[in-house]
Amino acid sequence: MDRIFAKFWNAAIGFYTVWIAYLGIKYGIINSISVKEKTIDEISEENKLNKKAVEIWCNTAYTLSLIDIVRNKYRLKENLKEIFADENSIRNIAGLYSYITIRSLDYAAFDSFFKKGKAQKITKNLIEAYSKATNFDHLFFTRSILTKNVEIYDLLLKGCKVLDVGCGSGEWIFKMSNLFPNSTFIGIDKDENSIKIASSKIKSKNVHFYKKDAKNIDYLNEFEIVNLCEVLCVTKNKEKVLSASYRALKKGGYMIIVEGLIEKPKRDLINKILYPMQLDMALQGGSFLSKNELIKLLSKYSLKTEFIDAGGGLWFILCKKY
Ligand SMILES: C[S@@+](CC[C@H](N)C(=O)[O-])C[C@H]1O[C@@H](n2cnc3c(N)ncnc32)[C@H](O)[C@@H]1O
Repeated sequence: MDRIFAKFWNAAIGFYTVWIAYLGIKYGIINSISVKEKTIDEISEENKLNKKAVEIWCNTAYTLSLIDIVRNKYRLKENLKEIFADENSIRNIAGLYSYITIRSLDYAAFDSFFKKGKAQKITKNLIEAYSKATNFDHLFFTRSILTKNVEIYDLLLKGCKVLDVGCGSGEWIFKMSNLFPNSTFIGIDKDENSIKIASSKIKSKNVHFYKKDAKNIDYLNEFEIVNLCEVLCVTKNKEKVLSASYRALKKGGYMIIVEGLIEKPKRDLINKILYPMQLDMALQGGSFLSKNELIKLLSKYSLKTEFIDAGGGLWFILCKKY
């Protein structure tokens, strides 16, 4: 096979690898075989799955080099444990494969986008994909931001008011409110179904969710922390959302912005992930900003900003109001 032909077959294999890994994570198979090798019967029984489906999955995952076969038993490859099964590792794929796979379920909407420029409405799949995609962001926040920024950590620990703008189904708030029971968390999202899902999961009194469009919120100097995790990229009204979030923030408080920042097209690893995602963002009616565009937007406000590179094109921007 010539090299150019092989390149495109490899791309197809990449697409299938993402799907097979996603199915293995979703149905608990990868977790089952991450510590110890198991037979098809054992895996099926443990996860209450159909034997035939498990058998086909295992043979496929073996051919894609995701798992090994040891005396008729199946085991996740040693060097993939951290990436696929260790949710506490910063190298964990942490929902990103799930995001890519779940998003592809809605790609029929591209027809309308390409022909009429129409963005897609928020679907059940999209809400689920969002909650998977931001797992990594939340992990990076607890692992790398909270451990290094003492001021943010102290505010949360002592007890402060936190606004999560575009909270989705509330994953970040639930993680934070468990870690910091002295703080109060308010999540707002313009999507009614996301707020319904978030509200149905509330277990503590320090958590509240409201359906609100961020561009219309009228909080004034009320919160020590305002979080915007992957919100600007999916909204058309970036300036209005930012100015309302800034108004809600108290002097001395922090606005935390988490965004994928895109530059001119370049054939490196990060751009090969960000550009296909940019097309997906466009389908959702949004777009990634460049670092310079975000710096320009933030320059209107009294903020001391710090850009932290989280890898994979994702940035944490810590903005202290002065
Ligand atoms: C990628 S999701 C991020 C969810 C959440 N921040 C997280 O970390 O899991 C983006 C969310 O922003 C919400 N959103 C977008 N524009 C908004 C706006 N103008 N006001 C309120 N929510 C908005 C969307 O409905 C969606 O739930």
